[in-house]
Amino acid sequence: MDEKAEGNRMNGAQRPLRIGLAGLGTVGCGVIRLLDANRALIEARAGRQLQITAVSARDRTRDRGVDLSAFAFESDMTALAERDDVDVVIEAAGGSDGPALELAGATLGAGKGLVTANKAMVAHHGLELAERAAQSGAALRFEAAVAGGIPVIKGLREGAAANSIDRIYGILNGTCNYILTRMESTGADFADALAEAQELGFAEADPSFDIEGVDAAHKLAILAAIGFGAKVDFNGVAISGITQVSAADISQAKALGFVIRLVGVADCDDPQNGTGRSALLQRVRPCLVPLDHPLANVSGPTNAVVAEGNFVGRLLFQGAGAGAGPTASAIVADLIDLARGDAGPPFSLPVAELEAMDRADPGGRTGRDYIRFTVTDRPGVLAEITAAMRDAGVSIESLIQRGRAKESGGEVLLAMVTHEGPERCVAEALALLEGSPSLTSAPLVLPILRD
Ligand SMILES: NC(=O)c1ccc[n+]([C@@H]2O[C@H](COP(=O)([O-])OP(=O)(O)OC[C@H]3O[C@@H](n4cnc5c(N)ncnc54)[C@H](OP(=O)(O)O)[C@@H]3O)[C@@H](O)[C@H]2O)c1
Repeated sequence: MDEKAEGNRMNGAQRPLRIGLAGLGTVGCGVIRLLDANRALIEARAGRQLQITAVSARDRTRDRGVDLSAFAFESDMTALAERDDVDVVIEAAGGSDGPALELAGATLGAGKGLVTANKAMVAHHGLELAERAAQSGAALRFEAAVAGGIPVIKGLREGAAANSIDRIYGILNGTCNYILTRMESTGADFADALAEAQELGFAEADPSFDIEGVDAAHKLAILAAIGFGAKVDFNGVAISGITQVSAADISQAKALGFVIRLVGVADCDDPQNGTGRSALLQRVRPCLVPLDHPLANVSGPTNAVVAEGNFVGRLLFQGAGAGAGPTASAIVADLIDLARGDAGPPFSLPVAELEAMDRADPGGRTGRDYIRFTVTDRPGVLAEITAAMRDAGVSIESLIQRGRAKESGGEVLLAMVTHEGPERCVAEALALLEGSPSLTSAPLVLPILRD
């Protein structure tokens, strides 16, 4: 730790914690409002004053509905890291690279604490930021980056710290959950539910990161690193979003006793033979969730995360995954920790001990699947599909056929649920059917979430 950083650390216990805030949008202004509204109890819990000294945004003049007159303004947000009156920087600007990353690096490099809500940056650069923090002795915290207001990182790093974690999974994107549950309750198709979500502010004008599953994958990669002691591996997350899920899939799922949710799942195999390394499987996919599973009742923009520990059992964290209030709540909780001097390694283990895990081969896993085919309405099609399943060793548990040529333009929907079996068998069956003129579009495979 350099002299300046040590000075900041030593003096910090007595004087106010001075904060530089980058970003005055939904999250940044939420932090200002929360600190104003709950100042007395926050400072009593922190044991010292929390004082914003400087802020940064692109537009200096915009009225943001909060009083900024007491704060210095920096148009270059990296300058916040260099100010003598800033001990901790909150990064609430966004973007995985560019100015946010520059600010994060400069802050930690200066030995100052960094609190960020930026899941994209932590998923892509969390490891290098944690290394930088370890080198300078600075604190790095990002509770708000995963599931907004839900204290799931704290829950894993602290509450479940005594456990070996077997599996982490959850509903990590409120936009997708809103869309899927609207489709479920109204019968709307994907495009209509998305348009409604945009009108109500639950989806952005460009919703691609959300609906393609990328946002959920950012959060899953962070959770997996914390839960399994792994180096963050965002590129190792297999991602499929919800754009292919139709109203018909939702109603078939319902008839079969399931709801559809976008679920991120991470688990970890024991060390691989010969390599001595563990293998991590991280996937974000729409899944069929049994109606009696706790995730089936998570509706609207709510998020929920399940972690299974070897002594504590199943933990369920649920709450608001976004929004000014919940996200500010998580950021200020991190600030209170920093004010108290509670830092600890950001990914639970010291960064040097995080393991570079192999990526597990999903083909060796077993599971049950929902498979939807859209086929031409002619004799022999069902026999062709079931023969491919038989030849690949896939056993069918139930099958539903919907639609007749007259009412559906010559297409029939065939939905089946498979018995438990190796995932590679389903892939083999679909490979056998590839190019068949009987199929009018690519089949959709949705896994059934196992208990
Ligand atoms: N919104 C949520 O519910 C939520 C939940 C969890 C995590 N997050 C994360 O929190 C971060 C912020 O999200 P948000 O919703 O608050 O975004 P936002 O409303 O778009 O606000 C972004 C703020 O950053 C400022 N900014 C952007 N680039 C800048 C630059 N180069 N220099 C200076 N200021 C810059 C913008 O300035 P101007 O206002 O002048 O344009 C704006 O004030 C993102 O990483 C997001 O993923 C958001």
